[in-house]
Amino acid sequence: MMDMRELEEELREAFYWFHEHPELAYEEVRTTEKIRELLTAHGIEILPYELKTGLVAVIRGEKEGSVRALRCDIDALPIAEETGLSYCSAEPGKMHACGHDMHITAGIGCAILLQEKKKDLTGMVKIIFQPAEETSLGALKILETDVMEDVEKIWGFHADPTNEAGVVAVREGYVTAAVDRFVITVKGVGCHGAHPDRGIDPVLIAAAVIQALQSIVSRNINAFHPSLLSVTRVSAGTTWNVIPAEAVMEGTVRTMEREDRILYRERLHEIAKKTAQAYGAEAEVEWIEGPPATYNDRQMAENSVKLAEEMGFSTAVEESSLGGDDFAFYEEKIPGCYVKLGTGIGHPIHHPAFEVKPEMLLRAARFLCACLTAVF
Ligand code: NI
Repeated sequence: MMDMRELEEELREAFYWFHEHPELAYEEVRTTEKIRELLTAHGIEILPYELKTGLVAVIRGEKEGSVRALRCDIDALPIAEETGLSYCSAEPGKMHACGHDMHITAGIGCAILLQEKKKDLTGMVKIIFQPAEETSLGALKILETDVMEDVEKIWGFHADPTNEAGVVAVREGYVTAAVDRFVITVKGVGCHGAHPDRGIDPVLIAAAVIQALQSIVSRNINAFHPSLLSVTRVSAGTTWNVIPAEAVMEGTVRTMEREDRILYRERLHEIAKKTAQAYGAEAEVEWIEGPPATYNDRQMAENSVKLAEEMGFSTAVEESSLGGDDFAFYEEKIPGCYVKLGTGIGHPIHHPAFEVKPEMLLRAARFLCACLTAVF
């Protein structure tokens, strides 16, 4: 039998190491090596995929059964840490401010616990240590391999600073939004600031487009469907007395429902192009598709709550958010469940003082292990 206190200590030390050594998306080389080292020390098999960063571990049960997977994301953020912790980031300007250091550690803990109970484990569990979640596209690197081909169910999880350490929060249905990005370029005609009649002012048109875009959520989308559009960057001109030839707007659209995502895309194109046309200009629209919305399978969500309660954890209803997670790409193939694990109430994720209470690590590992062991 595994000594739980020893495991807790091992996880705590691993967590300190990962927190101290954050690496940004697609650069998680040392992180990957450390994960490999910790897993192989416990005799855990790593699948021979040629991933530049990230890896997939596998625990083969000795009883017949299905293949399940767990996704843990491993990348950090370009944020300068302000926690003052003794194990704070040793990399200037980089920080595990989204708790992915906890995700790695809990994933390793879960793998160790599963390896210990191999004899009674049915089927197979794959633990995916995925790079570059913060780009919204790291999951696609994993999906380029055949790792998901035999997987029937997948679990994902995230650090949750809105709940006390160890609280398990779950909900069925939509949990995070589809994330799309757009860039609109209005092409007018530049001229002297004192003679707007001799040009076509793209700044005025950009203002009209920005105003009109907000009518999509209020006039086109079903009022009971959560969604939003934000124009987050506007750029035009170089000085005060010249009307520029171009104005660029960039932003994001967040939706839960598939049909809303399509509607936003259509209306955004229409509004940008036709508004520009009305003023005698042209608009180019670039639409950059990110992950779809994450959706928790009803059965998996219900059973996760049941398991958490049986194990004596406090549970809560997971807050849904118009943030995104590329976990949704896996769920395009198979049913999944994305839960939030309380890391202690404090600063929000992506904040320079965000902190994970390390006492939740073993609890997180035990809960994830239970989800992946249970057959439902
Ligand atoms: Ni995150």
